[in-house]
Amino acid sequence: MTKKICVLPGDGIGPEITAQAVRVLAALKLDFELETALLGGAAVDAAGDPYPEATRKLAEEADAVLLGAVGGPKWDTLPREQRPEKGLLGIREHLNLFANLRPAVLYPELANASTLKPEVVSGLDILIVRELTGDIYFGQPRGIEQRNGERFGFNTMRYTESEIRRIGRVAFAAAGKRNKKLCSVDKMNVLETTQLWRDVMNELAPEYPDVTLSHMLVDNAAMQLVRAPRQFDVLVTGNMFGDILSDEASMLTGSIGMLPSASLDINNKGLYEPSHGSAPDIAGRNAANPLATILSVAMLLRYTFNLEAEAQAVENAVKKVLAEGCRTGDIFEPGMKKVGTKEMGDAVLAVL
Ligand code: IPM
Ligand code: MG
Repeated sequence: MTKKICVLPGDGIGPEITAQAVRVLAALKLDFELETALLGGAAVDAAGDPYPEATRKLAEEADAVLLGAVGGPKWDTLPREQRPEKGLLGIREHLNLFANLRPAVLYPELANASTLKPEVVSGLDILIVRELTGDIYFGQPRGIEQRNGERFGFNTMRYTESEIRRIGRVAFAAAGKRNKKLCSVDKMNVLETTQLWRDVMNELAPEYPDVTLSHMLVDNAAMQLVRAPRQFDVLVTGNMFGDILSDEASMLTGSIGMLPSASLDINNKGLYEPSHGSAPDIAGRNAANPLATILSVAMLLRYTFNLEAEAQAVENAVKKVLAEGCRTGDIFEPGMKKVGTKEMGDAVLAVL
């Protein structure tokens, strides 16, 4: 049966990078039907809503969603409900995409692109499993109010044990397929919510006897990620800590322009997007690195459609192109061949 993919180019460099990813998908000649819709600032401009009804419907009907990026300074001053980020949080919540997988892998060809010493990062291969539909991101009550004659801002950090168990299972299973080490990150020395997080992770551990579970406080984890990142295999953490640690981890690999991500529901329906943002400063200039989005296509093939061979073909094509010396500006080094967004897409297609 034909599978449906909803393509959401979004804002900034989003349309340019998704265009290349869509070419890659098309080249595989699979039985996929692609439909494009608006999300983020582009949707605010066209429909006054960052996650309009038409997009909701398409996203709901699709088997998978491929997203570019959302946001930009143009929309930063709008009321919160109309900001592009609200579209992204909206689709995550609507589709119940609670499991966010963010791999940070260093390609040997890019060892010098990292700001860390090559001996610290070479061979790096980490997977961050970030809970994506709970925590302080979605907790109520929240707001800014007038109290006792001054403004008062508040948010609520919250997790139910079933939410923690559900993401814990994803992380244990992922670690079981890798190097069998799972590090759970919390702040249990201060926050009750994350004490519960640690307790539930400990309760799950006996179900996964082949995986070694450890715990780390988030401040230490942030430090260890730059001190000795190869000690980690899989990290599992809540929405907010995962947001911060995954940006940090991405930089170990030299460029956030290389990192894909998957956000999955309980049935592996997923939204796939690069880990980076919409980079408005370079939008429309054929300068963005499309590889994170192309690698997101590989994740889409693997996680939603179980097409492992095709996923690897895409990943190998990316490796080959890097080995050939093709570099967009973000990963450029003297002596390499500088290419634009479209030319990088051409190079991947040529290998595929
Ligand atoms: C991310 C982004 C989003 C988040 C923003 C754009 C709402 O930073 O996907 O990491 O905080 O989750
Ligand atoms: Mg983030």
